Parts: sequence; structure tokens; C-alpha cells
Amino acid sequence: MKNNLFNLIDLEKRRQASTVNLIASENYASSAVLAATGSVLTNKYAEGYPGRRYYGGCEIVDQVETYAIEAGKKLFKADHVNVQAHSGASANFAVYFSFLKLGDTVLGMSLTAGGHLTHGHHINFSGKFYNFIPYGVDQESERINYDQLEQLAQQHKPKMIVAGASAYARLMDYERLAKIAQSVNALLFVDMAHIAGLVAADIIPSPVPWADIVSSTTHKTLRGPRGGMIITKQALGATLDKSVMPGCQGGPLMHVIAAKAVAFDEARHPSFKTYANNVVTNAITMAKTFSDLGYRLVTGGTDTHLFLLDLRDTKNHGTLTGKDVEELLGKCGIIVNRNTVPFDTQSPLITSGIRMGTPALTTRGFGKKEVEQVAVWIDDIIRHRNDDNQLETITDNVKKLCEQFPIPTGTL
Ligand SMILES: Cc1ncc(COP(=O)(O)O)c(C=O)c1O
Repeated sequence: MKNNLFNLIDLEKRRQASTVNLIASENYASSAVLAATGSVLTNKYAEGYPGRRYYGGCEIVDQVETYAIEAGKKLFKADHVNVQAHSGASANFAVYFSFLKLGDTVLGMSLTAGGHLTHGHHINFSGKFYNFIPYGVDQESERINYDQLEQLAQQHKPKMIVAGASAYARLMDYERLAKIAQSVNALLFVDMAHIAGLVAADIIPSPVPWADIVSSTTHKTLRGPRGGMIITKQALGATLDKSVMPGCQGGPLMHVIAAKAVAFDEARHPSFKTYANNVVTNAITMAKTFSDLGYRLVTGGTDTHLFLLDLRDTKNHGTLTGKDVEELLGKCGIIVNRNTVPFDTQSPLITSGIRMGTPALTTRGFGKKEVEQVAVWIDDIIRHRNDDNQLETITDNVKKLCEQFPIPTGTL
């Protein structure tokens, strides 16, 4: 069984090495992050917080968590940081549990506009426990409709406004969001899970000065271990900590917390700023290549690490869904995910869009030439989807490109 499992891990390592990964929420963690994640810290129970644990033997892990908290505060110029949230969804659960009562009214971006399930979708706990009022994007510009948001805030007087997204390619106006929240006495909560690495590197504006609470994952653009974190203004810190533990979690994952600290330190290195800058440049380049090839992009392009192709515009390819294209590209070694586009009429399982992001391939060292090439291959695959010879040639070329740009860490 053990052998079998390690064979599977090896197979996954090979799959990652031999495919081009355009999933906007994935990345390749460094060997230092992997080493901390795979360390003996996994053996330790440490319920509580540094200096206030419910277990003995915590003198070393206390230092680990304190180090991670201080590194997180320094990186995001934050008053208070909690590094115990197990994931992005757990972080958001803890935020709502801290500052809302069951049934409270909250504004959140709808899933089809680019928001996340935990921002009030009816099948998620958030939509079941709280009275979420969805806001969306303007039909024409496909950017957040702040006037509509303000109107909804005035009308519904929410306790909290949630901003942040999983599939929104443009910058958000945190100052305007903060003003709207203040005007109705609501807390502003920004979920920066997708963009945290770009914020850490100071490539795009930070929500931290404007929001009362900021949550994040640590594994997307930030390139750390799979996990979550929560930043608050000082006055809210004690309430938040109490609701993470004992409120909604038990023992912290000390190995993951150590790996978060490694990632926070890595993100302060000048080379990470170059990396984050290249992520955005690559996304803009790739989006422009698709646009030049005749594809329609949601909002016309991107300011960040991701963009969305709208497959409802059928002139390049006839009728195709997000599911069709995800499967087609996957067969040729290019990994993407289907995604709804604003005002989509297809279900989230089918969708009319494809989301693409550049964090992972930029970690591999892809630059302008390579991302343009990948966009051209994607167009070729879509156009020649019924020509097995063409698809085979492109699949070989994808493999060769991956061999030229090995994943720089990859040690398991
Ligand atoms: C904006 C946003 N918040 C939260 C999450 C949830 O993170 P996790 O998968 O770690 O629970 C995601 C994941 O994709 C996300 O995009």
C-alpha cells in the first residue's frame, strides 16, 4: 500500500512536470516550503496560541508560530495576523463566525460575477447561515458596479461587505468599498486569496489599509503551502483569534504554519517582486495574444494574474463550452479550468468560459515568447480539434517546452 501511494505521488510529480499549468489558483511551492510542510512539526499538538497552549512540549512550536505571525505582519504591513486557519474557506468561516450572528445581512460578490462560494452562495454554509445579498458587475464593462453596490448597501444596511474574488481580472477600488462600508456602519472584509502574492510584492494595491478584516490563502500567487491566514485591525484581533480556536478549529497544523513562515520570508526577497511582476506581465501578454487571435476576453483583458475567455463569442470556434475546452486542452497537456462568465446561462459544471492564470508557469520561468506560444497552441488545438495528427504534434511540443522549463523546486 505504501509503495503504491508513493508511486502515485511520483506519478503526480511527473504529471506536474510534463504539463503546462494555467490554473490561476495553483503554483509550485519551493523546496523549503515543501520541506517545512513535510517536517516533524506534523507530530505536534498545540491547541491554543503561543504562550497559552492546552498541551505541554510547545516551547519550540511557540517560537515557530510567533515567527510566522511576525513574518506575516511584516509582509502585509498588518496590525494583527492569525496563521492558524487551515484553508481559505476555513479562514472565511472563522471571519463570519467572529463578527456576525446567524441570519445577519451581508453583501458579497456573486459567483457568476467572479466571487467565491464562501461569499454567500446558496449551496455553501455562508449562504445558508447568513442573509447574503449578491452584488455583481456592470453588464457592459463587466467591472464591479460600485453604484449598484452602494445602492444595495443603503437599501439593506448589511453588517458586513465582502469583497475579493476567484475569477475577476481587474483591480478593486478598496477606498470606495471602505467608504460605502463606513456609510452604513458595516465591516469591510476583503478576501485576497487569489492576489496575495501580488499584494505582498507591492505590484498591485493592498486592501490591508482599507479593510477591517482581510483573509487569504497562502498557496496561490503567494506560493506557500496549502493554507489560510487572517489579518485584522488590532482592535478585532482578540475576537478573531478566539473564534478561530476554540471557535471553529482544534489543533493548528504546525508544519503548515512553519511553511507559511518560509513563504512569507521568501515573498520579501527581491526575486519575488520580479516574479510577481512577471506573473502580471505574462498574463497581460497572453490575454493580448488571445485578443489578437480573435477571442473575447471578459473586461477586455487583465490587471492581475488571470483572465477569462468568453466562449459565447463563437467566431473562432463555433459552439464550445468551458467543459469542452477544459477537456480538449487537458488531452494535449495544457491544464485549465472551466469558469462561468458574467451573466452566464450555462451551469457552473458546464460554463461558457475558461479561466487562465500565469502564477505557475511564471514560477517555471516562462516569459513573453513562451506564453505567446502557449496561447497560439491553445487556439490551434481549438481550431484543429478534429485533426488527430495536429493534436499529436502540439502535444509533443507542449511536452518539449515543459522539459526546457523544469519546475525549479519539485523535491518531494
Ligand atoms: C477568493 C477565494 N477565497 C477562498 C478560497 C478557498 O480557499 P481553499 O480552497 O483554501 O479553502 C478560494 C479558493 O479558490 C478563493 O479563490
